[in-house]
Amino acid sequence: MKKLNKPILVLAAAVSFLLGACDNDKINDEIVVKDNVSFALDIQPILTGECASCHNPTEVAPDLREGYAYESIADLILEGDVIPGNAEGSELIEMLEGKSDDGNTMPPSGPMTPLKIALIKKWIDEGALDN
Ligand code: HEC
Repeated sequence: MKKLNKPILVLAAAVSFLLGACDNDKINDEIVVKDNVSFALDIQPILTGECASCHNPTEVAPDLREGYAYESIADLILEGDVIPGNAEGSELIEMLEGKSDDGNTMPPSGPMTPLKIALIKKWIDEGALDN
């Protein structure tokens, strides 16, 4: 019996760790973001850090480099992939959350931190402005 205790303890620890991780995800889903998100100050740095290494003229469209990204996003608005005032309905957010019907997850390596996604959502809900 003594021999069995250790694996069971390890299993219990693993299960409680996993449950804990789920709890954290729940908290993160309800992340509260400040009002008046700025494209230049809050969103562009995310695009520069997470997207522009691929999304540039030599790799793949849309161009998300600083100075070019908003123009590309204006195109996404025209195409209906970004719906100002409706982040939940925007294809771009489904891609960022890995829930897009066409299977595109951005970045392809997996979703960014919940805070970064929440900031982009808030910015879209506030009108996806070039602010
Ligand atoms: C590792 C490279 C890479 C990174 C990083 C990356 N993407 Fe992409 N992205 C691609 C590729 C490749 C495609 C083209 C996929 C296709 O056409 O199937 C693409 C396509 C897209 C599209 C167009 C999808 C469509 O339906 O035409 C958008 C919008 C997009 N990415 C946004 C982003 C955003 C926003 C980020 C950062 C949060 C990001 N991507 C990060 C490689 C990347």
